[in-house]
Amino acid sequence: MANKIQTIGVLTSGGDAPGMNAAIRAVVRAALEKGMKVKGIFKGYQGLLDEEIIDMDKSSVSDIIQKGGTILYTARCMEFMTEEGQKKGAEICRKHGIDGLVVIGGDGSFRGAQKLSGLGINAIGVPGTIDLDISCTEYTIGFDTAINTALDAIDKVRDTSTSHERCSIIEVMGRHAGYIALWCGIACGAEDILLPERYDGDEQTLINHVIETRKRGKKHHIIINAEGIGHSASMAKRIEVATGVETRATILGHMQRGGTPTCKDRMMASMMGAYAVDLLAQGKTKRVVAMKNGSICDYDIDEALAMTKDIDEYEFEISQVLSKY
Ligand code: ADP
Ligand code: F6P
Repeated sequence: MANKIQTIGVLTSGGDAPGMNAAIRAVVRAALEKGMKVKGIFKGYQGLLDEEIIDMDKSSVSDIIQKGGTILYTARCMEFMTEEGQKKGAEICRKHGIDGLVVIGGDGSFRGAQKLSGLGINAIGVPGTIDLDISCTEYTIGFDTAINTALDAIDKVRDTSTSHERCSIIEVMGRHAGYIALWCGIACGAEDILLPERYDGDEQTLINHVIETRKRGKKHHIIINAEGIGHSASMAKRIEVATGVETRATILGHMQRGGTPTCKDRMMASMMGAYAVDLLAQGKTKRVVAMKNGSICDYDIDEALAMTKDIDEYEFEISQVLSKY
């Protein structure tokens, strides 16, 4: 049985995601409930190396559950990618009496947690990213808010696209993963959905589809493009030249990462944050919190990081069928 954890640290790392504050709140309150002390680490691993560490109590997390962003701020930290940086981080944890660490972030942040665990600091990962691209889990904190924010914006672009009888390419976030594009594409009734995991670069097929929907009398043609494919502006120009249909590109960008978290994100963040503290209290080491078949569970970090996942084939197939008409 591992020694009882007395003090836990919590940090947010990588791209922020709506719901991270709800997760921080859950970690702090669940830990206080178990008699643990909590230290908040600002700016992810960068703040750890810079020792930007504060004591947190119940009031530190008052009035944050409904807020987007992260009160602990976040960062990407190159120094922590090095062995030296990781050793320094572990030493700083020891210096501050941090014997368990909750890392809220994506799989890059989990790799950092894996390294710290190897150096004797028990780190637990909580999945927080709008991209839904963490292999071990069906859900990541922030995804629900991001897709609803994006969908709201897409519906607005659609209004003006229809009025002007245009083709609109709307680029949503997701550098390597098309989950946001797939969900928003299906939910907005897009005519075409381009995913980094599936798009073969065949622009002629897109052009033919725009010409065909126009002939059939469609007043707009919405193309949802994922950031991982990119080039929306130049794609719009080429489509306009080839089809004669006025075409505009809109890149939604970072607005998708902000805003009030949805009920689902607050709920998931609250459960996952508290679950991470439970794992530490039970003496479990080096785990990642995840969702499988709708229930919260946990995996060893090594096992979690070795997993792969892909776009659901049935969802992709149906997206193609529904967008054809
Ligand atoms: P995310 O956690 O959203 O995937 P990143 O991939 O940018 O975001 O990772 C966030 C941070 O985690 C990095 O800036 C770095 O400090 C740390 N990190 C990422 N990969 C590793 C790694 N292989 N080893 C140690 N730390 C890492
Ligand atoms: O957090 C994930 C994400 O929003 C990706 O969808 C996107 O590619 C990336 O982060 C953008 O990162 P940055 O904030 O550095 O522009």
